Amino acid sequence: MKTSIIYDTDLAAFEIIKGNVIGLPTETVYGLGADAENPIAVLKIYKTKNRPSFNPLIVHVKDIEDIIKYSVEVPSVVYDLVDAFSPGPITYIVPRNNLIPDIVTADMYSVAMRIPSHELFREVLIKSGKPIAAPSANMFGKVSPTTADDVLNDLDGKINYVLEGGKCSIGIESTVLSFKEDEIIILRPGFITKEQIEKVVNKKVAIFDGTNALPESPGMLKNHYAPNTPLYLTSDIDHFKNIPNIGIVDLNLYGYLELSALNLFSELRKADEGNFDYIVAKEVDNAGLGFAINDRLHKASQGYAEFINGKIIFKKK
Ligand code: TXA
Ligand code: MG
Repeated sequence: MKTSIIYDTDLAAFEIIKGNVIGLPTETVYGLGADAENPIAVLKIYKTKNRPSFNPLIVHVKDIEDIIKYSVEVPSVVYDLVDAFSPGPITYIVPRNNLIPDIVTADMYSVAMRIPSHELFREVLIKSGKPIAAPSANMFGKVSPTTADDVLNDLDGKINYVLEGGKCSIGIESTVLSFKEDEIIILRPGFITKEQIEKVVNKKVAIFDGTNALPESPGMLKNHYAPNTPLYLTSDIDHFKNIPNIGIVDLNLYGYLELSALNLFSELRKADEGNFDYIVAKEVDNAGLGFAINDRLHKASQGYAEFINGKIIFKKK
């Protein structure tokens, strides 16, 4: 099978209707989409990216009416959050009904739903008339794609088409929120920050740290987003700069966290292509959007690197 980059949303919508998987642009990262109501099409997503079957998918829909359509009950606070942030980089976990096949949610009774803002993705949603299940369009555990070429690099020969939609305007995944009685919990930090959410809901929001008493959150795996070259974090990046065979990723140089997020995955991919022995990366300031960026860097890393008495010491996590 040869994979082609296409520009035609009619063709992309037809691919969804036919029950195939296709690379689709979203504002956050490129997704690997299929008809969420078709269990065989959804199975192809897991097979194509080698995703473990216990890790549920996000279903992308065009509006709040669709969230209501696939949910048993939408928590009232979701309406406020939709008003503030959707369409956009935020995902709501809601109790699902039986229009969503079990395979989409890895047998859980909840489903993750997002209303994306990318114009071309929205066209495919409207033209196909289907909800679209889509994880990021990379091999499982690897760096997320932010261009159509990134998708080709990972999945060439495994899918028929990637819809060209330019470089993603955000570059980091959506914030995933779960609702438990009165509590709102961030299951995965993303572009929309805790502070932004708290302002809308007018109360404190919790961050899942692996210890909260919570329904399972299979996507919060410790190692993820990883380049093939071993990556280590350091607070001492200057010391590593002139060492041969070490690639440097310092997102602080962008000056604005939005730009650091935008370039996060492309920097990791570029460093990976440099044939280095190691990649050394520096975290950004942990406030606001920095929290989501550092989350990705942590999960991409194998531990910390320090420079002690002229020697590099690697500490595995
Ligand atoms: O920005 C994004 O969210 C991108 C674009 C393509 O929309 N999608 C994305 O999908 O990042 P993926 O599959 O790479 O990550 C989905 C996350 C995982 O951490 C998964 O475990 C979690 O959402 N998730 C999905 N359904 C869930 C559920 N019912 N309960 C708890 N977590 C869920
Ligand atoms: Mg992913």
